[in-house]
Formats: sequence, C-alpha cells, structure tokens
Amino acid sequence: MNNFGPKSTREHECRLCPELVASRTQIVFPTPCPPGGLLAIGEAPGMEEDDIGEGFVGRAGRTLDALLVQYGIERNRDYGVANIVRCRPKDNRKPYKHETDNCLLWLSIFLLRNRPKVLLLVGSMATEVFLGPGPLYWHIERSRKSPVLLAKDALPTLRHAIRLLHGMLDGVFAVPMPHTSGMAWNRRAPNGKVWREIGEEQVELAVECLKSSHVT
Ligand code: URA
Repeated sequence: MNNFGPKSTREHECRLCPELVASRTQIVFPTPCPPGGLLAIGEAPGMEEDDIGEGFVGRAGRTLDALLVQYGIERNRDYGVANIVRCRPKDNRKPYKHETDNCLLWLSIFLLRNRPKVLLLVGSMATEVFLGPGPLYWHIERSRKSPVLLAKDALPTLRHAIRLLHGMLDGVFAVPMPHTSGMAWNRRAPNGKVWREIGEEQVELAVECLKSSHVT
C-alpha cells in the first residue's frame, strides 16, 4: 500500500450491488499511482484479490508487474492498479451493466483524486468502458495511431472526470492491452502475433506516453 491519496470512509460501506455484496469478501480498493503516473485498470477482482484486498495480486498481476519492471516501473512506487468493478463477482462471472455503472462513479472520483496521466487498460472490458465498443485488436491498432484518451469515447459516467483530467494534466492517454491472465495471453491476434507479444508492445507504448510531455 502507498500514501498517494486519501480514502473516503463512505466507500468502505458501498452496498449498491446486492449480488456483489453477497459474493465479495471485501471491497478491493484501487492502489494509487503518483499524480501524473500510470494506472493499470482491469475488470474485477479475482479470488486472490478478494482474499487479500488488493487488485492484481494473482497470476495476472505478477505478469503485469514483470512487464512494467523491465522499464524500471514498480507497483506502488510508480504505478497503481484499479478495476472497473471493485467487488468479486461470484465464480468470476462478467460484471453486469448496472454493476459497472454503479462502480464507475467510484472510479471517476478515484481518477480525479489520483490524477493518472496514463491508463493502461488491461483486457477488453476496461478497454470498452474507456474507448467504446469494438474488438480489442481494433482498439489496439487505433491507440498506436493516437493514444490520447477522448472523453467522448468513454461511458457517460466517466466523461466529466476525463475532461477535468485533461484540464489538470498535460495530456491523458489510454493504452489498451490484452488481459494478462494466462488463457488469453497465449492465443493469436488477427495479425498472427501471440497476444503476449502485443501486450509487451502496448506496455512499451504506455511507458512512452508516461515519459512524453504530449503524444498525438
Ligand atoms: N483480473 C483483473 O481484471 N483484475 C484483477 O485485479 C485481477 C485479475
């Protein structure tokens, strides 16, 4: 855990989604990045995250850490993690739309408090929430042309926060990548490369955005 931002006590009591309240052990809060830093955003906590109370602590998280540490970027010191939905859905089912909508209110508040400059969108769910509908590979190709995050592409609950972030920072970027969970990682993408390789390239792009003052 780090000390980059305050936590509101009311967030600890959230009971907006009855099924998630029943399935969770605890709410898994995001871990902040330094202001202007990198925030990796996944779908929802899995079993290990639900047990420990921190995002990306299982296999997918270890892969993420290993990819970023190659560039000297370390969890808690240089980057933080969050999920679209903060409570573990039963049997790791996909979160329902109303659960996503509810939790995006919390994510918007977190983004404004934490002010990340680069969002590394881990997997298709986080990608679609911030970048709109469409196949992951299409979003990846688009991000290579311009990784700038546009408020109009995100779900409505996030748009205001994204506009404010643009006002506070010199550019806000979103870099989509395949999910780091083992299964998806070894399949092939439409261009014939394994998703792992594409994931590595996207992490490199995210690091470039982090170091740049502005990329268009
Ligand atoms: N997968 C996610 O999307 N988030 C986590 O925190 C862990 C696994």
